[in-house]
Parts: sequence; structure tokens; C-alpha cells
Amino acid sequence: MMGSEKVIEEKKQGQALLTEEKEGNTKKLYIESYGCQMNLNDSEIVASILAEEGYNTTHLLEEADLVLVNTCSIREKAEQTVRKRLQKYNAVKKINPTMKVGVLGCMAERLKAKFLEEEKIVDLVVGPDAYRDLPHLLEEVNEGREAVNVILSKEETYGDVSPVRLNSNGVSAFVSITRGCDNMCTFCVVPFTRGRERSRDPKSILEEIKQLHQKGYKEITLLGQNVDSFLWYGGGLKKDFKNASEIAKSTAIDFSQLLDMVATAFPKMRIRFSTSNPQDMSLDVLHTMAKHTNICKYIHLPIQSGSTAVLKRMNRQHTREEYLELVDNIRKIIPECALSQDMIAGFCGETEEEHKDTLSLMEYVKYDFGFMFAYSERPGTPAAKKMPDNVPLDVKKRRLNEIIQLQQKHGLYRMEQFVGKTVEVLIEGSSKKSDKHWKGRNSQNAVVVFPKNNEQIGDFVNVYIENCTSATLIGKRI
Ligand code: SAH
Ligand code: F3S
Repeated sequence: MMGSEKVIEEKKQGQALLTEEKEGNTKKLYIESYGCQMNLNDSEIVASILAEEGYNTTHLLEEADLVLVNTCSIREKAEQTVRKRLQKYNAVKKINPTMKVGVLGCMAERLKAKFLEEEKIVDLVVGPDAYRDLPHLLEEVNEGREAVNVILSKEETYGDVSPVRLNSNGVSAFVSITRGCDNMCTFCVVPFTRGRERSRDPKSILEEIKQLHQKGYKEITLLGQNVDSFLWYGGGLKKDFKNASEIAKSTAIDFSQLLDMVATAFPKMRIRFSTSNPQDMSLDVLHTMAKHTNICKYIHLPIQSGSTAVLKRMNRQHTREEYLELVDNIRKIIPECALSQDMIAGFCGETEEEHKDTLSLMEYVKYDFGFMFAYSERPGTPAAKKMPDNVPLDVKKRRLNEIIQLQQKHGLYRMEQFVGKTVEVLIEGSSKKSDKHWKGRNSQNAVVVFPKNNEQIGDFVNVYIENCTSATLIGKRI
């Protein structure tokens, strides 16, 4: 993997998620999360709602009263992974026959009640906006009825639910600021599974960060499908902003203001955010980033293709040239800023020329990290309805490989720029390869490994970089 932050860390992807026990709770919840960081944060909201209903988390399927799997629909493979997990739960049900199984998240929303027919093991289907209904849905299930709620909402942001943290290192946490997406990229299932875009009340965002700060957390990542489009005007859908009152309009808070508020209120907290959509990223956001040392100098800026014609077929709202202009502005305003991409290889009708445009754009930007995928047609999306998925699989794979190879080269180039320099690292835990080494990240999101001394998890330390690979900086504390 080229980058490690975008998807849920390996130790969290598809594994039992655990939190502290709540006294007096007797029921056991086994919960797993797949896909994006937003799903992990949603699982934290779900665990928090169920802790009030008497559930503590467990890592043993065999003792679970309730098994929940938070699912991802983004590519076909993500859905296949979940189907395989359901087979595993089926096997366990033979030893634990009273266990109930619920499916949450994007697959639940996409397949709705069909899930109950297709997968006999499933008792409960709950979409991303319906988690507050879980206590009631569980009652239905326990009384032997089917329970499905996949209603998408105009308002729901779970702003007042204080999420418990799952498999947390006690140092970094996710804070959701928007839900849903209005962009309708033609390849993407998210607008259908997560609904229209809405923003969360800045007051509840600041309150959540305050609580994290008090618990000793040192880094937060503000999350949304499209954070730069954040707009709080008292609640409601982003698309309805035009109908808001004049007062609501004049007091509205946008992303650069939110970022400024958070960075000012918590000067000791590191602040990250994801994901930025190129068309919505304003110069104000860049200036706010430049102004605050505690806002990390890293932008995840998906583009999907370097060809304007492909971007148009994807319904991305910008051209290659506009994207590069934004990149130039980032380099000017925040010279030390790291950038990462998402790319899709072999989208409908992609020619060899168009693929080469992607490679040449990458040459220009030289991204620090990348998340690269072969196009996977998703049922119901505009692309699936209107455009043939006509790039042969072997061509898709070859193009994807070329993109990955080039990214590896650029990743190494970017890491090499840190060799001989000193960077500030927030210690997140032991290195995977050796317990004698710490692992953390610098502001640019590069993973840094260095020998342990008397430091602790959560410390900020200065590390002199002596060496690197294409994904890791290696150094010593100074
Ligand atoms: N704005 C979102 C994007 C979510 S999808 C965010 O917060 O990151 C994440 C990435 O998955 C997209 O940027 C895209 O590169 C990839 N993706 C989405 N749909 C896909 C599809 N049908 N096939 C292949 N990759 C896809
Ligand atoms: Fe998907 Fe495009 Fe939104 S990739 S999540 S529709 S920005």
C-alpha cells in the first residue's frame, strides 16, 4: 500500500473493534468495520449508542449476542469481502445459535431488504443515517421480526452522540464534520448510499474535540466525503442553502472558518482533514493552513484521472489545468505541503492517450502518497447506466500497475527530501517490525520510525532523518 491513512489502518479493517467496558453492561457486541475512516467513526457512534443499551464490545464471535458489520460498497471487491465474513459468522452461529447479525453502512443502504433474502444469516439491515433507530430495531429482532431501516436523512449528523473510541491508541481520533456527498461523480456509489450532503454544528464539533483534548488525544482528523464544502447555516442540506434566510446566510460558517476556529481553540492539537475535493478547496483554506502551525501540512487531493476528457465523463467539476493551478497555489502558499492522490485506472472509454495524461500529471505533481484502483462498475451509478465498462481487465491492470510504479518512484523521491532534516513526530505506538522502535508521523503524514528511549505514546519529539524507503522515514531522536 502506498499510503496508510486514507483507509482504516490494517489493524482496524475487518477486525473486532474494542473499547473500554461500561460497568453494569452484560450483553456482548462484536463489531467490525470495512472501508473508509468515516465508517470507522460511524462504528464508534454505533458502539456508543449500544453502550447505552447494555452492550460491551468483545473480540470473541463465539460469545457475541450481537454481531455488526459496517460495510463498504465502493468497489465490488469490498462487497465480496463482507460476503465472505458473513459465511464465517454463519459457521459460528452453529456454536452460538442465539447470536443476531446486523449489516450496517453502504451495502445495507444499497441492498436494503434484499440483504435478508440473499444472506439468510442477516437479521438486521441498517443504513448510515438510521443508527439512532438501533435500539428499536433490536427489539424487533428479539421479538422475531425482520428489522430494516435504510431511510436517508436531511438532518442527521449524530452531532450530539459522543462516540466511544474503538481500538484507539489514545492519541489520534476522527471527528466527522459532514455527511453524504452531492457531487455525483459518475463512477461513485457514495451519493446513493450516504445521501445528500449536510454539515454538523460547529459547536458540537468543538465540544467533541474539547472532550478528546481532555482525554489526552493529540491529533484529530476532520472527516467528510468533501470537507471543503462544509457549510453550517443552522442545519439542513447543503443544496438547500440558497433558500436559507438572509441572517442564516450572513452568519454561515465555511470550512476555512471552521478550520481556523478549531486550530485557534486547540493550539496543542494536531489537526488533519480528509477528503478535499479540488473544485471546493478555496485559497482561504490554504491561507488558514499556512497561518496555523498545528494544522498539518498535508492535503489528500483526489483527482482520479489526468485527462480533462475523462474528468468530464466522470462528472468531476474541474479540468486538468484547474487542478494543476490549485497545486501551484498550494506550492506557493504552503511550500512544505505534502499531497496525495486517488486515481482510477481504466474508466469507461479510457484511451492510451488519456492514461498517459494521468502519468504526465503525476510527473508534474510528484505526489507523496497515492491510493490507486482499477475501475469497478457499481450498479445504479450514472456510469453503469450510461457508459460501457469497456477497458479490458488486463489493460486496466497494466495501467494500474504503471500508475502504482510511478507513485512508488515519486513516494521515494518525496521521502528522500526529508533525509538530513529534522522533523517533529507524534508518537503513535511501536513500529510494526520492532518493539525497540517507535512509529509516528510528521506533519506531512510520512511515517517515521526511530529507536525507543524514555519516550511515551502521545509525545511530540524531534527526529533527525538518516534514511528512508518509499513509504517510511528512518531516523534518531535529537
Ligand atoms: N470523497 C471521497 C471519495 C470516496 S471514494 C473521500 O472521502 O475520499 C474513495 C476513492 O475510491 C475515490 O476517490 C476513487 O478513487 C475510488 N473509487 C470510487 N468509486 C470507484 C469505483 N467505482 N471504482 C474504482 N475506484 C473507485
Ligand atoms: Fe464519490 Fe465523488 Fe463524492 S468520488 S464521495 S461522488 S466526491
